[in-house]
Amino acid sequence: MVSFEMKCIECGKSHDMASPAYACASCGNLLEIKMDSDAALKRASDGKFERRPISVWKYKEFIPVGPKARVFSLGEGGTRLIECKRLAEKIGIKNLHIKFDGTNPTGSFKDRGMTVGITKAVELGMKTVTCASTGNTSASLAAYAGLAGVRCVVLIPAGKVALGKLAQAMMHGATVVTVNGNFDQALDIVMKSSDRLGMYVLNSVNPFRIEGQKTAAYEVCDQLGGSSPEYLYIPVGNGGNSAAYWKGFEEYESMGLTPGHPIIRGIQAEGAAPIAEMFRTGKDELSPVKKPETVATAIRIGNPANWKKTVRAIRESGGSATTVSDEEILKAQKSMAKLAGVFAEPAGAAAVAGLTKDLEMGVLDKSSTVVCVSTGHGLKDPDIAISQSMTPVTIEASIEALQRLLGAT
Ligand code: F0G
Repeated sequence: MVSFEMKCIECGKSHDMASPAYACASCGNLLEIKMDSDAALKRASDGKFERRPISVWKYKEFIPVGPKARVFSLGEGGTRLIECKRLAEKIGIKNLHIKFDGTNPTGSFKDRGMTVGITKAVELGMKTVTCASTGNTSASLAAYAGLAGVRCVVLIPAGKVALGKLAQAMMHGATVVTVNGNFDQALDIVMKSSDRLGMYVLNSVNPFRIEGQKTAAYEVCDQLGGSSPEYLYIPVGNGGNSAAYWKGFEEYESMGLTPGHPIIRGIQAEGAAPIAEMFRTGKDELSPVKKPETVATAIRIGNPANWKKTVRAIRESGGSATTVSDEEILKAQKSMAKLAGVFAEPAGAAAVAGLTKDLEMGVLDKSSTVVCVSTGHGLKDPDIAISQSMTPVTIEASIEALQRLLGAT
């Protein structure tokens, strides 16, 4: 086997990695990159691999870009795995870490995929890149496209993207198109028009995006001293990141770099939960949610493009998917900020919300080692944060006024 191959997840047909492709030419299913682990490990055995600081490109031997590719990087990955003692105590678990991927250069995990995706786009000679987005993908793509000097066209659902994300996409110079419809409809337009309009799609159906995002799982294992957690809680929207994490854990295990892998628990918002519904009913086919709704706009997705990949990944891990309410998400968002110093956007709090619910329902052993993935920074969506916080108190500009307010004598 060559080091990397792009194959259909269903029929296994091989596809040329030197031209853009997002679906199998024979059966239309998703594509994935298969890595020859032995060859990859041999490439990385330079005696320095273990000592390289964690980042997406620490793992360059496990990422399918050509040796001569010009890498476009803003320093993504290497995000903290935060031990959350106070939060753990509050929700009743012994060992809790948050992988805070909201601290990536544009404030979300998307940067991991985008550094690889843009590097690939330029390698393929593409002049325009595009995506549909609930916000973060567009912000990230716009930044990396600017860095690489390629045109960027993003389609977002009108009125449903957090302001910070919109500001990012616009400031980074993307052509921002708002669609009178939801994310699923915007993605449909992107997929159907990209070939005709000569645009390279960098949604998570692009298998190279997943290759960047899988490095988060490698990092978690490295940060835990070469072991993997027992459980990984992760929000699920379009299903790319959960599939990417699983790919990373599996590859690390198969290379002998960690002795096991976690059970994955996918978390969806109640109003946008077609994957959790598959697990609840045991069905093998997805029934899309026509009008998805949730305060966590990043995961307001009713027809996840990667559902097959992620359902397979979660099942292989021995895990499942479940839902949390908007109220539970907002509660978790506050607790994370107050007790762990992690200010996440609502979708980035879904994993902790799911863990909290599982602990309350007694479906998880309190002594388990858990990593919750927090996917996006809270500053992206200040409206939500402010609307659920106390209004600041105004005082006159005097020490006495402050003293009175604090009840100090
Ligand atoms: N969390 C955040 C903050 C996100 O932005 C997304 C997806 C997810 C979780 C879910 O990840 O789709 O890989 O399952 N955001 C996409 C976007 C859809 O357009 O920014 P997923």
